[in-house]
Amino acid sequence: MNHTHNIIIDTDPGQDDAIAILLALASPELHVLGITAVAGNVPLQLTHSNIRKVCELVYKTNIKVFAGTDKPMKRNLVTAEYVHGETGLNGTQLPEPSMPLQSKHAVDFIIDTVQTQPEKSITLCTLGPLSNVGLALEKAPEIAPRIKQLVMMGGGLFEGGNVTPVAEFNIYVDPDAARLVFESGIPIVVMPLDVTHKALTTKKRIEAFRALDSTVGSVSADWLDFFERFDEDKYGTDGGPLHDPNVIAYLLKPELYSGRHINVEIETQSALTLGMTVADYWRVTEKPRNAVWVTDVDADGFFDLILKRFAQFN
Ligand code: BDR
Ligand code: CA
Repeated sequence: MNHTHNIIIDTDPGQDDAIAILLALASPELHVLGITAVAGNVPLQLTHSNIRKVCELVYKTNIKVFAGTDKPMKRNLVTAEYVHGETGLNGTQLPEPSMPLQSKHAVDFIIDTVQTQPEKSITLCTLGPLSNVGLALEKAPEIAPRIKQLVMMGGGLFEGGNVTPVAEFNIYVDPDAARLVFESGIPIVVMPLDVTHKALTTKKRIEAFRALDSTVGSVSADWLDFFERFDEDKYGTDGGPLHDPNVIAYLLKPELYSGRHINVEIETQSALTLGMTVADYWRVTEKPRNAVWVTDVDADGFFDLILKRFAQFN
């Protein structure tokens, strides 16, 4: 099979991470070289086990799963059980995984894969704090020009932040790693809150998952029912933002999205604005454009894509 993208998914599941992983596993255009776990929504022990639970749910037990770092590069871990529940995947109960965790460290897997695969052939998909990628860049900065692109969920400009008034969770948890990534020269595509807040898990959309009448459909609906509660209360919307699957959907159908190539820098010093993505959307500086900042999505097209792909799972 000729895959369009060879990808590594770095993730901290998280219900929305889980939907993103399933979307990737359902998509023949994507060759998933490995999935790396990072600490974020919940601690590392749970994120690597959650990744394997999700793979086993769809019988993809041959996927290589690696554990990464259990903490941000320079700071204490901040988690988000208040959003995702204490397991990270609250809403439904999945069996403990029996597929193995690879013995290699996620950071070494990322470095070795980028170094041994053809130049510019690997896309990194990051769905959590950037700690593993930051550590890889610190240990082996020479990998940066070999990476085709990095598509991330993180940051916010017009929507502000979701952990502080100006900082989004994934960037806030490890701003030092995020800074390394944005300064690395890797071509970056960012799915910030500005776009994910336009992809809401409305009641109608959740019902469409349930109507798939399959295990994946009902598990997804149960996850989304749980996950949206927090944001519905917070924002007063019908449904919450389905963040992370936008990263995968962008690779499958970039025409669903629009954005601008701009300069983005990360605040790592200020106590007040720590983790802010300082995005020069209006190009008021001459600073180099280092990221495509996505602001719009065809939300119906996005949910249709996920549902169509999930319909392939029994
Ligand atoms: C991001 O933080 C996590 O809670 C979600 O999984 C998503 O990656 C949204 O801010
Ligand atoms: Ca996530």
